[in-house]
Amino acid sequence: MSPRSDPSLNEHHGGEAAIDLHSIRTFLRQWVRDPVKTASVTPSGRQLTRLMAAQLPRGCSRVVEVGGGTGVFTRALLDAGVARSQLLVVEINPHLADFLRDRFPGVAVACADARHLDVLAEERGLLTGGKLDAVVSGLGMLSMSSRMRCEILRAAFAALGDHGCFIQFTYGPFSPVRRREREELGLRMRRAGFAPRNLPPATVYVYQRLRSQQIASVRQMRG
Ligand SMILES: C[S@@+](CC[C@H](N)C(=O)[O-])C[C@H]1O[C@@H](n2cnc3c(N)ncnc32)[C@H](O)[C@@H]1O
Repeated sequence: MSPRSDPSLNEHHGGEAAIDLHSIRTFLRQWVRDPVKTASVTPSGRQLTRLMAAQLPRGCSRVVEVGGGTGVFTRALLDAGVARSQLLVVEINPHLADFLRDRFPGVAVACADARHLDVLAEERGLLTGGKLDAVVSGLGMLSMSSRMRCEILRAAFAALGDHGCFIQFTYGPFSPVRRREREELGLRMRRAGFAPRNLPPATVYVYQRLRSQQIASVRQMRG
């Protein structure tokens, strides 16, 4: 059954990011195929989804989501007011990318690696007229190598504006972006909150450029 032909998957169902049986089945099947990349047995729950969406900067318009899965964060981003034309979802798994395209008509979905998100955003015209306000990540960063994490963050901050933020959750007890990696990339971090009812419980972190770098870039612009 296609996601749109399943009434439980109607994206307006319940008006919020609801977990549905079809998504859970789809997700579980992809986890069996590739547990490392899929990184979780089920889609994120409502509490975690709300906590992620609550971190979007005020007046946020251009957004890239990486690791879209079955679209719980995508739904929440649209509900938070992000326009379909201003949202790009990057999902590496072709089955999940098709699922997302079917479920969210009008939203650009790239079946690609998050390491290229800056190029993808540029190609899709998302950076015309300004840089990104936020990158929302559903990636399982803990199961990635340090090198891969840094490549993804470099691509994200190449496309993000000065005050743009990278929003990430983790099932682990510490920031999935290590201190050494943050220092290397010139990032600061804020622990935004904990979602104890998520399965498994998860913590949300927000990464931004160091203030000194934001100020330097404003000075450069003023000449
Ligand atoms: C933990 S799941 C999260 C899915 C969804 N955002 C959620 O919270 O339910 C991670 C997702 O990231 C995708 N993924 C893993 N590595 C990726 C990469 N390098 N680029 C893009 N997507 C990736 C997986 O296929 C999977 O759908």
